[in-house]
Amino acid sequence: MSTEMNMNVKPELNLKIRHMRKSDVDNIMRIEKKAFNSPWHKDGFKSELTLNRFAHYFVLCSGSRLIAYAGMWVIIDESHLTTLAVDESYRGLGVGKLLLEFMITKAYQSGAVRMSLEVRPSNKSARRLYAGHGFVVRGKRENYYPDEDAFIMINDELDKWAKESRRRLNSVFGK
Ligand SMILES: CC(C)(COP(=O)(O)OP(=O)(O)OC[C@H]1O[C@@H](n2cnc3c(N)ncnc32)[C@H](O)[C@@H]1OP(=O)(O)O)[C@@H](O)C(=O)NCCC(=O)NCCS
Repeated sequence: MSTEMNMNVKPELNLKIRHMRKSDVDNIMRIEKKAFNSPWHKDGFKSELTLNRFAHYFVLCSGSRLIAYAGMWVIIDESHLTTLAVDESYRGLGVGKLLLEFMITKAYQSGAVRMSLEVRPSNKSARRLYAGHGFVVRGKRENYYPDEDAFIMINDELDKWAKESRRRLNSVFGK
């Protein structure tokens, strides 16, 4: 699967996924500040892109508009989803699901057999998205967020979910 691809799922949106660039960070911050109570600083994204050799960050664009992004670390056979967010105006359209499926597929292609993430217990939409893709709550990190603990969710059947995701992405992309 190539990194850059056109999606046919909603042809009118003209969706495309590509690697995140430093020049994307201002547009990412526009989404980040609305999506999270404790947003990352823009330098966090910049250092991930320039200093972290385990980092894999992607953006999803509708035409030329950046509408979603996600990042992960892949270290040998382990992957960790560090962030995933969709512009408020584009939620509920299946964009988050596509991007998660893309990240699962990429992680597996990079050698990961497992993916972990932290999520707010109060974040019902995200928990449902992850639970629908094989992630199970396996623990809790106390005081992870300034105002809330985090659930640790793990998918340790990444091979199975990558195959499912790949099948769906291929059908969406017409490959
Ligand atoms: C969580 C988030 C990424 C979902 O993106 P999205 O594009 O709106 O989600 P999708 O339309 O692809 O929906 C995928 C699944 O998410 C769940 N979901 C999405 N919106 C939901 C809602 N309002 N209520 C309950 N479940 C919801 C559902 O399981 C849905 O699948 P289904 O429709 O087959 O049931 C998005 O709401 C977001 O950016 N939130 C703010 C940032 C965030 O919380 N990121 C996660 C950090 S851990």
